[in-house]
Amino acid sequence: TYIVTDNCIKCKYMDCVEVCPVDCFYEGENMLVIHPDECIDCGVCEPECPAEAIKPDTEPGLESWLKLNTEYAAQWPNITTKKDAPADAKEFDGVEGKLEKYFS
Ligand code: SF4
Ligand code: F3S
Repeated sequence: TYIVTDNCIKCKYMDCVEVCPVDCFYEGENMLVIHPDECIDCGVCEPECPAEAIKPDTEPGLESWLKLNTEYAAQWPNITTKKDAPADAKEFDGVEGKLEKYFS
């Protein structure tokens, strides 16, 4: 599966939503997550994310992000159409500690 990681937080560009063939993105206030059981591993969303926040869960060190995607995909609503990214999305690209400060 692919998963969404920290740099999505407060960037939330949502370009990923447009390309997913199985609509497996779920929306929180400041980030999206992927439902790991619904993702068919096609990989098309990964290069579409301007924040480079989408990664295959085979990359080392992403266990906590897999857990977070699994947990919140079960709670948040499905999103199938792209909305406008936050006006200040660029300012948050690459900011450290977003999970602690801005996760929602
Ligand atoms: Fe959707 Fe494919 Fe990305 Fe999985 S890898 S979230 S199926 S676009
Ligand atoms: Fe987030 Fe990237 Fe999608 S910033 S909303 S994973 S395009």
